[in-house]
Amino acid sequence: MKDLISLHDLTSNEVKGLLDLGLKLKKELKSGIPHPLLKGKTLGMIFTKSSTRTRVSFEVGMTQLGGYPLFLSSNDIQLGRGETIHDTAKVLERYLDGIMIRTYAHSDVVELAEEADIPVINALTDLLHPCQVLADLMTAYEHKGRLEGLKFAYIGDGNNMAHSIMYGCAKVGVNCAIATTKDYQCNEEVVENAKADFAAGSADLLLTEDPIEAIKDADIVYTDTWVSMGMEAEKAERQKVFMPYQVNKELFAHAKDDAIFMHCLPAYRGFEVTEDIIDGPHSVVFDEAENRLHVQKAVMATLMG
Ligand code: CP
Ligand code: NVA
Repeated sequence: MKDLISLHDLTSNEVKGLLDLGLKLKKELKSGIPHPLLKGKTLGMIFTKSSTRTRVSFEVGMTQLGGYPLFLSSNDIQLGRGETIHDTAKVLERYLDGIMIRTYAHSDVVELAEEADIPVINALTDLLHPCQVLADLMTAYEHKGRLEGLKFAYIGDGNNMAHSIMYGCAKVGVNCAIATTKDYQCNEEVVENAKADFAAGSADLLLTEDPIEAIKDADIVYTDTWVSMGMEAEKAERQKVFMPYQVNKELFAHAKDDAIFMHCLPAYRGFEVTEDIIDGPHSVVFDEAENRLHVQKAVMATLMG
């Protein structure tokens, strides 16, 4: 494992290993046990999109590991003015021990990882968000005491979150149901890859346009914004089309009584989820946000240690 680009690239054991290490590092942090696993190492963090959780959790995580995080906004580096990914990779690998990148085109992250001799971590592209799903699975494990055999229902846009959720669930034996509307389905290549991953594991994948079918008896209910970064021009249309996919009390009632509600955040109350659900007793969204820190420390320690 040189990079973390997609959970599809990882074996089941690699995914489980990251979750286990994330849980261990969380426990150590809470007990005041220091773990300077990346002492003296530097992580470059390239952002061409906004971020609250990802930026702060990677910066704090790197600091807790004894390393140094370097924030590189695309507005400030030459990549944003047309320097090639190749040249950027070849230069940065001379200074840094790892690169974390959040950007639009997934192919840019793949290229960066191919060109750079140092580890590259995908911190969200238009296609995938693997770090988020590692945190989600860790959170589900903490709340449910197991992963294998659970049912994970994702309701909403067939976006980067839906894609990474499919990949992640397949690797850890979680049954996955995705409900999305006809015109906003998941990427076909990702679906084919995910189907192969599910076929190789113990869990099932259900793709449907019916949110009730997806959420029925779910242990984990998940949604994400209907208007991802870069989709702002489609906002009005999306907010109309996705309304029947809103996670509200009525829809949530079809899940198991003890189901947990998850959302990668940022959330838009009154659109993809109602206030009574995201701020209600089933919601674990802030545990999820916290776990970004712990599991990404596991990713960095594994790749850069
Ligand atoms: N969930 C997530 O990635 O949040 P940010 O966009 O704030 O980093
Ligand atoms: N699907 C969202 C996730 C944000 C963390 C986006 O890409 O904007």
